[in-house]
This record gives sequence, C-alpha cells and structure tokens, in this order.
Amino acid sequence: MNKAARFLLILIAVAVAAEQAWLLFPVAKRMLFPPIEDAAVAGQRVAVRLGCFSCHGAEGSGGIDNRGSSNKVIPALAGGEMMMWASS
Ligand code: HEC
Repeated sequence: MNKAARFLLILIAVAVAAEQAWLLFPVAKRMLFPPIEDAAVAGQRVAVRLGCFSCHGAEGSGGIDNRGSSNKVIPALAGGEMMMWASS
C-alpha cells in the first residue's frame, strides 16, 4: 500500500470514528449523567400511585366534602407549616 492510499484509509477511518462518536454522544451522555427527575414530579407520581388524589381532589387541590368531620372538607395537599410534615 502506497503512502497516498494509507493516508486516504486513515482519513476515512477518522471520519467514520468521528461520525460514530457524534451519533453515540447523546446516548453516552445520558448513561454517564442520567437526567435527575424533578422532586415535585416524582412526588406527584407517588401520590397518583397511592391514590391520594382520590380523596384530596385533582392535583391535591382539596375541597372534597368530608361531612361529619370537624373540617367539613378534605384539606388540600399544598400549604401548611413545615413542622406539620417534617419529623426531624
Ligand atoms: C380515604 C381518603 C384519603 C386518602 C386516600 C388520603 N387522604 Fe390525606 N386526608 C384525608 C382526610 C379526611 C384528611 C383530614 C384529616 C383531619 O383533618 O383530621 C387528610 C389529611 C391529610 C393531610 C393533612 C393536610 C392538612 O392540611 O391538614 C395530608 C398531608 C395528607 N392527608 C396527605 C395524604 C397523602 C400523601 C395521601 C396518599 C398517600 C393521602 N393523604 C390519602 C383523606 C384521605
């Protein structure tokens, strides 16, 4: 193989490698740095799975009738004091 043919072969190999790296970059990036799910989105997913919205209303907006209790309505899931929810 003469010098020109070897140079052309190396050039093609570099071009193919560069294209492969370009195509695989998004996949590698996602594997190395997985996207972090927003905490609010993760919490909503858990609440949907556990059925919290069946009583606390759509999106936890509350206001559903709870006759017989002192509150009269089921409270919304938003608001309140931090001390109400944190154990430490
Ligand atoms: C069967 C109906 C029902 C389901 C299902 C339910 N809740 Fe409730 N929740 C209530 C009622 C009724 C109250 C009010 C209790 C009271 O005032 O003593 C309440 C109160 C609360 C409160 C206190 C709100 C406040 O402002 O006082 C929070 C927080 C809460 N629920 C979270 C949840 C979560 C999280 C889920 C799902 C894991 C859930 N609830 C599922 C009926 C329900």
